[in-house]
Amino acid sequence: MPRQRKLIAGNWKMNGLRRDGEALARTLVERRTADGAGRFDLLLCPPATLIWPVAAVVAGSPVLLGGQDCAPEVKGAFTGDIAAPMLAEAGCRFVILGHSERRHGHRETDALIQAKAKTALAAGLAVILCVGETLDERERGDAEGVVGRQLDGSLPAAATAETVVIAYEPVWAIGTGRNAGAGDVAAMHAAIRERVKDRLDPGAVRILYGGSVKPDNARELLGLADVDGALVGGASLKADEFWAIATSS
Ligand code: PGA
Repeated sequence: MPRQRKLIAGNWKMNGLRRDGEALARTLVERRTADGAGRFDLLLCPPATLIWPVAAVVAGSPVLLGGQDCAPEVKGAFTGDIAAPMLAEAGCRFVILGHSERRHGHRETDALIQAKAKTALAAGLAVILCVGETLDERERGDAEGVVGRQLDGSLPAAATAETVVIAYEPVWAIGTGRNAGAGDVAAMHAAIRERVKDRLDPGAVRILYGGSVKPDNARELLGLADVDGALVGGASLKADEFWAIATSS
């Protein structure tokens, strides 16, 4: 998937019952289909119970499907977890890994995220690998250091620019309505591209921005040179807002 096409990914998190998820997906499939070839890839990442019903809605359309997490193991006694081959079988092409709500809320380490990513790639899924600093880390002047260490520790050896997308999501911007300034985003995206250049072809790897992306800031953020798409939480739950973000890319 070339860098020229932006990736607009919706992370529904733990939101939506079946009727809501199907209706949201149906509206987006209609708009994306009417849009023809489109300038961007549209990806929906519903909660686990909605993956199969949403897969049925997006089947045969250009809309892509992804999971929000997977286990480092492929099967076994891991209550509550979901395996990468299960996501792949349901029609997922992507899985989000290392989201800050998992790094911080579930104490996931870089080593665990790397193990998950390795399993996901082996199952044929592309990985959206999330990285990002806390407000405290940014104020200490360590934002690029933190993100660099997260990349070093969680990128799996098999990663390529075709199979891994990086999502820069400053923790303090997620769900807060406070997005990072264009200058900070541009600087961090350039730093990420530089940091991974020996492992991921810098001309091909897609780096998304995430954290309070809304229709009114999407054009500026998506217009930055090193921003290859967006990972959208809250605004991806409303078809009009998500579509407005996608079409401003
Ligand atoms: P937000 O979430 O758009 O609601 O800030 C982004 C994310 O967590 O991926």
